Amino acid sequence: MNHQEWYIRAFEKWYPIIYRHRDSNEAREQVEFACTELQLHKDSKVLDLCCGYGRHLEFLDKKVSFTVGLDLSIYLLNRAQDLNVHRISLVRGDVRYLPFFSYTFDAVLVFFTSFGYFKRHEENIQQLEQISYVLKNGGKFLFDYLNPLQVQKIKDIETEKKYKSYVIKENRCYNEKTKELKKYVRIYLNDSKQEDSYTEIVKVYSLDELIKMFSSNKLNIQRIYGSYQKDRYTDDSPRLIIIGSKHE
Ligand SMILES: C[S@@+](CC[C@H](N)C(=O)[O-])C[C@H]1O[C@@H](n2cnc3c(N)ncnc32)[C@H](O)[C@@H]1O
Repeated sequence: MNHQEWYIRAFEKWYPIIYRHRDSNEAREQVEFACTELQLHKDSKVLDLCCGYGRHLEFLDKKVSFTVGLDLSIYLLNRAQDLNVHRISLVRGDVRYLPFFSYTFDAVLVFFTSFGYFKRHEENIQQLEQISYVLKNGGKFLFDYLNPLQVQKIKDIETEKKYKSYVIKENRCYNEKTKELKKYVRIYLNDSKQEDSYTEIVKVYSLDELIKMFSSNKLNIQRIYGSYQKDRYTDDSPRLIIIGSKHE
């Protein structure tokens, strides 16, 4: 594995700070949504794929008896370990090579754009293959992705936020040729000395492309939403949320 890959660099100490609005209130609502949509119950075996620092895990812990949180970031997994959870297993792993037997899980949850991280299309496909592999027949999945129709409109947007003595500048740009959304993050201390910088790069797949990719991996799409409030998916939706199940 190349240690210069952006997704190794980006999910460390700045990630929980930059995305602090993606908080535990939001996670509680999303877990409620997942439990209803996927009909999860006490005995369900659930995989929170790319669990990050585990904001969904503490709510999943109350709902189901067997949950595994998997992530690549040691930094975020260490934070997840501090959660007050009882029945959760944390695993360090890579979405392309899941360390589980086939037909293990009743549900796989992919919250908050944890897909499209690899430059090579085959590797993004491999993530779907692996989801399908670890799901039982009839097992359900939730796939919460950026809205490609929204993102394709992003030309060059610069935003700024403050955290303690830090100023965080983010520049977002969608590249039509490569179909990638790039976010360049720069962190300054007291708006002067640059403290750190890194880039996030997400491959933007259209809904049609995703439908084909899912279907060639035995993943049936059952419902599509534009938000966790169950709004219809449109050009302006904040998210693209796909609910489905694995067929034999
Ligand atoms: C945008 S975050 C979402 C985290 C979490 N699902 C949430 O909603 O808070 C994406 C997560 O994917 C993880 N990740 C990135 N590349 C990965 C890989 N190749 N295998 C496993 N996890 C990976 C990151 O470490 C990070 O925690």
